[in-house]
Amino acid sequence: MSAADVDAVAGIEGRAYPFPWSKGLFSDCLLAGYKSLLCTLDDAVIGYGIMIVAAGECHILNVCIEPAFQRVGLGYRLMARLLKQAKQEGADTAFLEVRPSNVGAIRLYQRLGFQRVGVRVGYYPAPTGREDAVVLSCSL
Ligand SMILES: CC(C)(COP(=O)(O)OP(=O)(O)OC[C@H]1O[C@@H](n2cnc3c(N)ncnc32)[C@H](O)[C@@H]1OP(=O)(O)O)[C@@H](O)C(=O)NCCC(=O)NCCS
Repeated sequence: MSAADVDAVAGIEGRAYPFPWSKGLFSDCLLAGYKSLLCTLDDAVIGYGIMIVAAGECHILNVCIEPAFQRVGLGYRLMARLLKQAKQEGADTAFLEVRPSNVGAIRLYQRLGFQRVGVRVGYYPAPTGREDAVVLSCSL
């Protein structure tokens, strides 16, 4: 992902999440040097993933597929590529947070070997108040 992709990525983000990241947040991730991957169809961006790899750990920050292209295996492939890259860069454990209500994402992560290791109370904004985050971890 480069700065030129931020508009397309933020567009998908807005269609896929009830509480989307801002364009500025994506730009900050790029400036910070976080690792990112795009999923493309011809020249169009249809998904993306962003992670931090440091000190032997990988933290998946965002994984998203354009709603019209969900449930055809792209999220799984994107996650598998992110985890492979993290391992190549020296990570031996991956972590991520997910909303307990995001049943599809949790199932995807479980299929990749992630297991629940904790909860962050009130981590996410929600339509009424806050929602906890489930912390999942996977050995690479
Ligand atoms: C979560 C997300 C990335 C999954 O991407 P995807 O391309 O739709 O997922 P895949 O087609 O690769 O699915 C792989 C497996 O994950 C599980 N899964 C994915 N979405 C699911 C859903 N909505 N309901 C139930 N299981 C689901 C299934 O086990 C699926 O395998 P199957 O289709 O053979 O049953 C996608 O739904 C998305 O972008 N959601 C919005 C953003 C988001 O919530 N990101 C995660 C934040 S933590």
